[in-house]
Amino acid sequence: MEQVTIMFAPGNKRLALAAQRLAATLEAAGYQARIQPPADVESYRAIPGPKLHLGVRGQDALLDAMEANDLLIYHNGVPAREGFYIATCAGDLTVISGGDDTGALYGAVELCERIQASGAIPREIAFADAPAFTLRGPAIGLQKTTIDPGRKTYEYPITPDRFPWFYDKALWLKFLDNLVDMRCNVLYIWQGHPFSSLVKVADYPEALEVTEEEYQLNREVFRWLTDEADRRGIWVVLKFYNIHIPVPFAKHHGLDALQTFPLPVTADYTRKAIAKFVEDFPHIGLMVCLGEALSGLQNQIDWFCDTILPGIKDGMATAGLTEEPPVILRGHHTDPVAVIERAKKIYDNLYTMWKYNGEGLTTWQPRGNWTKTHRKLGDLDSTHIINVHIVADLEPFRYGSPSFIQKCVQASVHRYGANGLHLYPLFYWDWPYSPDKVGEDGARLLQIDRDWMWFETWMRYAWNPQRDEVLERTYWARRLGERFGSPEAGNLLLDAYEASGECAPRILRRFGITEGNRQTMSLGMYMTQLTNAGRYMPNMDLWLSCAPQGERLDEYIRKEEEGKHIGETPADAIIEIEHYAQKALAAARAAMPYVRAAGEEFRRTLTDMEAIALMSLSYVAKVRTAMDVMRYRRDMAPDMRGDLALLHRAKEHLYQSLQLYRELAALTAETYDWANSMQTPQRRIPEPNGFIHGHWTAMLPLYEQEYTNFALHLARMEQGFFPAVAKETSRRPLRTVPYAVLTEGCELFALSSGESAYSDISKQVQSTIVELRDCQAVRISESQAAKGGAAIEIELAEDAKVLIGYFMDKSKRYLQPPTLETDTHANDRGGLEPVMRSAVKVSFSPPVNVHALDYPKGRHTLYPGSGVYMIVGAVEPDQNVVVSDAEMENEKLRALDWLFES
Ligand code: SER
Repeated sequence: MEQVTIMFAPGNKRLALAAQRLAATLEAAGYQARIQPPADVESYRAIPGPKLHLGVRGQDALLDAMEANDLLIYHNGVPAREGFYIATCAGDLTVISGGDDTGALYGAVELCERIQASGAIPREIAFADAPAFTLRGPAIGLQKTTIDPGRKTYEYPITPDRFPWFYDKALWLKFLDNLVDMRCNVLYIWQGHPFSSLVKVADYPEALEVTEEEYQLNREVFRWLTDEADRRGIWVVLKFYNIHIPVPFAKHHGLDALQTFPLPVTADYTRKAIAKFVEDFPHIGLMVCLGEALSGLQNQIDWFCDTILPGIKDGMATAGLTEEPPVILRGHHTDPVAVIERAKKIYDNLYTMWKYNGEGLTTWQPRGNWTKTHRKLGDLDSTHIINVHIVADLEPFRYGSPSFIQKCVQASVHRYGANGLHLYPLFYWDWPYSPDKVGEDGARLLQIDRDWMWFETWMRYAWNPQRDEVLERTYWARRLGERFGSPEAGNLLLDAYEASGECAPRILRRFGITEGNRQTMSLGMYMTQLTNAGRYMPNMDLWLSCAPQGERLDEYIRKEEEGKHIGETPADAIIEIEHYAQKALAAARAAMPYVRAAGEEFRRTLTDMEAIALMSLSYVAKVRTAMDVMRYRRDMAPDMRGDLALLHRAKEHLYQSLQLYRELAALTAETYDWANSMQTPQRRIPEPNGFIHGHWTAMLPLYEQEYTNFALHLARMEQGFFPAVAKETSRRPLRTVPYAVLTEGCELFALSSGESAYSDISKQVQSTIVELRDCQAVRISESQAAKGGAAIEIELAEDAKVLIGYFMDKSKRYLQPPTLETDTHANDRGGLEPVMRSAVKVSFSPPVNVHALDYPKGRHTLYPGSGVYMIVGAVEPDQNVVVSDAEMENEKLRALDWLFES
C-alpha cells in the first residue's frame, strides 16, 4: 500500500479538516495516509512517496519558499478569496495553495473529487478555481407547516418538541459536510423572533419564552453549530421578522405579539435583545426583514436605523468587536433602496437580498419591476443576494433541471447584478423532511438526500455560472448514472429532469394567480381561476416581472380575432407543457431497464415524473376548456346566448382534465402525504385552507363537482334555460375632466390593468368597470397614506365630480368612507353613498367602492383623512355616475363563473 504524506501547518481548523478529508479519501482509494507538519523546501523531497501540502498563500512558509524558488508558479492566476491553486511540483509533491483557509479547504475538496473519480492522485495537475458568488448557501426554517395555537405566523419558540431535528447533531454534521462538498459558505436560518429563545435581556426577564433548560440547550446547540459551521468555512446567519415581540412579553405589557409600528417599549426591548445576541453570539450574522407586521416605509426606516442597527452597535461595543459584522437587509414588504439610503449613513457593512422569481421558480428571463429593484440593489457596491424563495410551484416533487437552473444563476448575475445565493429547500415549511409517503421502514425521507440535485445544481452554478453547456450535460449524466447504476440510466434520467423542469415554471407563469405561498400550483386550479382570474386578485408581478413577455388568457382571447399576439401565449405554453411533460415521462420510463442501483429512489423518481405529467396534462386540458369558455363569453349576446358548440368542446376538455386528475389523485395517494409544505389558511388557490385541501385526493371531489356543474348548466342551456340578466342599459366609459396633480411625489396614471397603483409598493390595478376605463387616477405613496393620510392637491380644468375610491376593509390601514355620525360635513359635496361598488381591484387589496364628490374648477387640496384611499378620476358632473347593483350583477353573470358553480 503506497504511503502518502499530507503536510499542513497545525493551528488552523479548516486546514485540519481539509487534511482529514484528504486522508480519508486517500485511504478509500487504497493509499496509506499520514499527516505531519510541513517539511521545508529543501527537505520535503526526502520524504518517501507522494506528498500533499496544503496551506494559505502568504501565511505558509513552504508555499512562500516554493513561490520564491519558482517551484510554484501560478500559471492561471494567484488564488484570491476562497480560491485555490492545485499544482504538481517537483519531487512528487502536490500543493494546494489557498487564497485563504476556506480556499485551501475547497482545494482539498476538489482534489478529493479527482482522486475519487480516478482512484489515484493526479500525476500532473495545475488547476486554479474560485467562486463567482460571494455568498452561497441554503436557507432552512425554524418554522412549521401549521400555526401554533395561540400564536401567529412565523412564531415558534425554539424548543425540542417543536424542532427535534434542530438538536440532532449527527444530522447537522451530515448536512454541514454536504455543504462543504457543495462549497457553500453560508447557512441561513429563518425564525420569527429567535432572541427570546436564545438570550436573556436583563431589563425584560419576561421576554424569555423557553424554560431555563431549553434556553441553556439552545445556546449550547447554537454555539456548537456555529463552531462546526465555521470549521467548514460556513457563516451562520439568523433571519428575523419585525416587529415580533415574545408572547409572554406581549402579555406582560398588554400588547399584541405582532406590532405594526414602533413603541418605546418594543424599541427598547428589541435594541437590548439584539445587543445581547451580538454580545453572546458575535459570529452569527443577522438578516433583517422589516415586515411583515411592521408597516409604513418611514416606520421601517426608523426601526432599522434607530433600533436594529444601534442594537448591533451596542452589542459590538460590549463584545469588543471592531469591525462591523455584515447585516443583510431583506427587501420584503419594504422599499429596500429607501431603507439602505438612510442606513448606509450609519452602518457600512450592509448586504441586500430580494426574491429571485417571487415565491416560485418561473423564468430565467426576469424583467419588469423586480428586475429594476434587483438592479438598484445590485448596483450598490455591496453583496446582493438572490433569494430563491419558497418555490411553491415546485412543491412537492423532485426538481433538478441543470440547464434551467444554470440560466437562472446567469440571469441573476447579468440581469440582477447579484453575487450571492440564498436557496430555499423544495419543501421549506417542513424541514428536514420530504413529503414523500414513508417507506417500508417507516422513516421519512430527508430533503438533503432526496433533493441533492436541487441543492447541488444551484451551488454548482453559484460557484461558476459560466460552465460549458455540453460538458455540463456529461457531468450530470455521469452523476445520475453513478447513482442509478448505469450511464444509460444517467442519460435518460437527466432527460427526464431537464424536461420535467420546464413544466411547473411554464404553468405557473402563464396561468397562475400568484407566484407564492398563496397557491399550491400542483393541486390544479378551478375553472373560474382560469377564466376569471381577476376575481382572485392575481399578482401582476407574476406576469410582468417573473414571466417572459407574453399574454394572459384574457388578453389572448381578446386579441385572438385580430390574430396579433405577442410573446409566450397560452396556446404556445400548453404546446410546450404537453411536450415537456410527455418527454419527461417517456425518458424516465425508458430508463427503467437500465437502473441497477437505488431502485427505490428510481421508483419514486418515476412516479414523480408520472405525477408531473398527469398534473401538467390535466392543466393543459383545463386551459383548453378555459379558452373555449372565454371564446364563448367574448362572442355571446348580452343575454349570454352563443355558440354552444364551443361549450360542448370545452366539456370534452374538462372531462379529459378530470380523468387525468383522477389518475393523479390515485397515484399521489400512494406516493405523497402532502402537496404543500405550508398548510395554513394562507394557501388560498385552488381552495382556501392548506390543511384541509393539502392533497389531490381532497381536491378531487371538488373538481368532480365542478365538472358536474358545468355539464348540468350546459344541458340546461341546450334546453334554452339561461340565467336571467337584468334589463340592459348601455354602459360606456364616463366622460372625464382633465386635471393636474400638484403634490410632489404624486402623479396621474391611466386606470388600466397592470398599472402600479402606488409609488412605493408593488401593487397593480387588476381590473376596473367599464365606466372608469378612461379615468386618470392619482398614484400616491401607500405607506404615507396608511401612516398619516395623503393630502393631494389637484387642479381641475372644469367643474367635476371627483371620484374617490374607498377600499372595503374596516382596518385602520384604510381610509373609511365618510359618515354623518362622526362628521357633520360628510355630505357637503355629496359622496356619502357609493356610486359604484367593487369598481376597481388592486392586487393584494380589498375591492374599491367609488364615491363621487362635487368640486368646482380650480385648485383643491383633498385630505379625506388618515388611511389608504385612491383618487380614481375626475368626470363631467352632468352625467349619470351611478352604476346600479343590477348592472354589477349582470357583469358578474356575464363572467360565466356560474357555469362551474352549483
Ligand atoms: N412570504 C413570506 C416571506 O417572504 C414567507 O415566505 O417572508
